[in-house]
Amino acid sequence: MNGENLAKARELLRHFPHESSALIPILHLVEQEFEYIPDAEVHVIADLMGITAAYVESVLTFYSLFHRQPTGKYLIQVCRGLSCQLMGADELSSFLYEGLGVQRNGTTPDGMFTVEAVECVALCKNAPAVQINLEFYPNMTREKLEAFLDKAREEVPTDA
Ligand code: FES
Repeated sequence: MNGENLAKARELLRHFPHESSALIPILHLVEQEFEYIPDAEVHVIADLMGITAAYVESVLTFYSLFHRQPTGKYLIQVCRGLSCQLMGADELSSFLYEGLGVQRNGTTPDGMFTVEAVECVALCKNAPAVQINLEFYPNMTREKLEAFLDKAREEVPTDA
């Protein structure tokens, strides 16, 4: 953690009646700084809070907002909750995995796209739902995903 975030983390510890309650906001600080949670930071957080690294690990791996590896420029999270599955989420995931040549939680070699399957994102009535860089996309279709991927690829400078 950089000095600024370390100071913020110490401040957060003072704001909660139980210091352990500051863990999630502190994890957000680290995720924002590194765009994932590096191993070394798990120990920094544990030492700072006086808890075990295993406890930090157990919390951060529970939430799909936190990552243990760097993600792509576009983090595509397909809801795999029941409503979304019934409305075709598995087909959307398969389309992304096959089209981008990645497996679940995988990132394309160019670092552009990461595809994850996540638990319910609370848009069940607009299933299937997808989040891209934490922005909600309800009623997702394969065509909409194709259009998004095409637009995102246009941003990449070509060598031509
Ligand atoms: S099951 Fe997908 S948003 Fe709830």
